[in-house]
Amino acid sequence: MINTQESKVQLEYIEKCKALVAERYDHQPAFFIQNAGCQMNSLQTETVAGIVKKMGYEEVSREEDADVVIYNTCTVRENANLKIYGHLGHLKSIKKQKKEMKIVLFGCMMQEPEVIEKIHKDYSFVDLVFGTHNFHKFPELFYRSLNTEGQIIDVWKESDEIVEGMPADRKYSFKTGVNIMFGCNNFCSYCIVPYVRGREKSREPEAILQEIRELVADGVTEVMLLGQNVNSYGKTLENPITFAQLLQQVEEIEGLKRIRFMTSHPKDLSDELIETMAKSKKVCHHLHLPMQSGSSRILKIMNRRYDKEKYLELVQKIRTAIPDISLTTDIIVGFPGETEEDFRDTLDVVDKCDFDTAFTFIYSKRSGTPAAKMENQIPEDVVKNRFDRLLSLVQEKGRQASSRFQGTVQEILVEEESKEKGIYTGRTEYNLLVHFPGCRDLLGKYVKVRLDTCKGFYYFGTLVEE
Ligand code: SAH
Ligand code: SF4
Ligand code: F3S
Repeated sequence: MINTQESKVQLEYIEKCKALVAERYDHQPAFFIQNAGCQMNSLQTETVAGIVKKMGYEEVSREEDADVVIYNTCTVRENANLKIYGHLGHLKSIKKQKKEMKIVLFGCMMQEPEVIEKIHKDYSFVDLVFGTHNFHKFPELFYRSLNTEGQIIDVWKESDEIVEGMPADRKYSFKTGVNIMFGCNNFCSYCIVPYVRGREKSREPEAILQEIRELVADGVTEVMLLGQNVNSYGKTLENPITFAQLLQQVEEIEGLKRIRFMTSHPKDLSDELIETMAKSKKVCHHLHLPMQSGSSRILKIMNRRYDKEKYLELVQKIRTAIPDISLTTDIIVGFPGETEEDFRDTLDVVDKCDFDTAFTFIYSKRSGTPAAKMENQIPEDVVKNRFDRLLSLVQEKGRQASSRFQGTVQEILVEEESKEKGIYTGRTEYNLLVHFPGCRDLLGKYVKVRLDTCKGFYYFGTLVEE
């Protein structure tokens, strides 16, 4: 349900904070913000950054220099949590000298009761904590926090509201992500996302289209439609529509040049979507299709609802319909009970699918998920050995896959100057990164480059005059 009343209330709180901030500081107040996790989290980080800028804060790149320090958290793997506790340790010493500094934590990790308990008990210097379901309340909560010394923790278990129309501070002026749905209903047995993000909710197509039209009017030419499982977009709407139909409508927006989307669950990838991608002039020929494992036995225990054969067939079908498609994937190594034979199935699928890139993860036990209770957890040294073997295959296959572009001329969207002065980077529709000698004027433009030297996962190229 879209709640327009709520967004009005929150916009008023932004103004209230702005007045309070102007009154309170005798210097230009500053904020530091850091994101963790997936692109859906980054979007919310951009929204919070946009809001605090509106309140009068300017962004700085070091916690030490900030009046407000904000972390958007992820909890998909244990590592992400450990990093946050590390940061908090560091902040504690800064705050000792800078008592008026505000510390704000939000995002997926805050949906876990154990985390909240720990922050309440051991990290009492944290000022404001909220979760994923009341994210839209940030201006109001921040206003309350500005008016109190104590710790505010406000985390909800669920919410079916979608609040539209908050300001955002986009990283790039010419490309951005757009949420088309929230949450996940799939309950893969290793995954914590459905617990921390709640049930799947799709945004109304008209709200999405309107947002993209506004973005395009504001200079955006590439959008990435985001959801944990975009292939099930629209099923629960009052007037259901399919993801492929949404893509067709987005395609019609004038001025938009490229459409990307993420993530596709193999079980829900329809023929209609493949056909739409094949026909489309704007949908990039890149598909992220997480396989997680190549073993049918493990996939079943993971609750992925496809098996090795079905995954391979799907890849075959996509490649037949869209021969130039670039495929990328996610793989987990060391899921409970994974045998050497299961692991070899994973290597086999990687060998057969010619992925451009595969993101490989060591299985991380997430409390509350069914897999965490499984007895046969795999010893660390075995997992490490498998991980290294997988990584070297993935890298070798990735190099082979990207070498197909050697010497070709590709159109790229120029994104930024690289660390090396005068060298700019951009991406092809296949999401392949290209570095080339260029200039600032090219930022945000589409240019043709010849891909001269393959550097593994990226190319070094030269501009081609039209
Ligand atoms: N919705 C997406 C994935 C979101 S999480 C999908 O289903 O494809 C991003 C990736 O993190 C997953 O694809 C998976 O490979 C990895 N991941 C999720 N839970 C994990 C865990 N407990 N341990 C290790 N990797 C995990
Ligand atoms: Fe997690 Fe599976 Fe949902 Fe992806 S589809 S977010 S892996 S439960
Ligand atoms: Fe992490 Fe939450 Fe995304 S757990 S991967 S930030 S949905």
